[in-house]
Amino acid sequence: MKFFIDTANLNEIREAQALGVLDGVTTNPSLMAKEGIAGKNNILAHYKTICEIVGGDVSAEVISTDYEGIIKEGEELAEIDEHIVVKVPMIKDGVKALRYFSNKGIRTNCTLIFSAGQALLAAKAGATYVSPFIGRLDDISFNGVDLIEQIVAIYRNYDFDTQVLAASIRNPIHILQCAEIGADVMTGPLSAILALLKHPLTDSGLEKFLADYKKVNG
Ligand code: E4P
Repeated sequence: MKFFIDTANLNEIREAQALGVLDGVTTNPSLMAKEGIAGKNNILAHYKTICEIVGGDVSAEVISTDYEGIIKEGEELAEIDEHIVVKVPMIKDGVKALRYFSNKGIRTNCTLIFSAGQALLAAKAGATYVSPFIGRLDDISFNGVDLIEQIVAIYRNYDFDTQVLAASIRNPIHILQCAEIGADVMTGPLSAILALLKHPLTDSGLEKFLADYKKVNG
């Protein structure tokens, strides 16, 4: 399972990268705005910096919602770095754009996926990744992990190359559930990734080992 971090914060990306488990980064316009990154040149430069830190796939989302606009923006984003994956919303013109990018060899991440039907369509259109949003489904009392399981099963039936990128991850349990059902990738906040390493018995066990060492070694 690939680990992506879902942030545009450079310090968090550096921290996850330093841990040695990071395979990529996903961003979205809200995450970019949270970091105060505004203006086309600053936005493109920020994506480039992220690519240089992580050396893995970096999803950069288009703002346009019409076919021509998505194509123009996506081509500009893809020019930034070989690691850029163009993030395209699950709308009609987005699906058409996925096919265009796929034919051109530009990799894509189809975002805002909330149903298996949308995921099937994105795969048919040649998306590299689909991003079903687990946390946002849980928020409205739908089981987000069930959707991941359904999409994984459908893609296996037909050997689609499209990878299931479990997004809107909120906690370490989400990560484990996605790993159990075979999601290809998860993208989540640094807090969820770091929470995987915590266990009270690890902490108390280490404390005892160090105390016992000290007893005889001073
Ligand atoms: C996906 O790529 C999105 O950036 C993201 O995972 C959305 O997560 P949220 O629901 O926590 O905003």
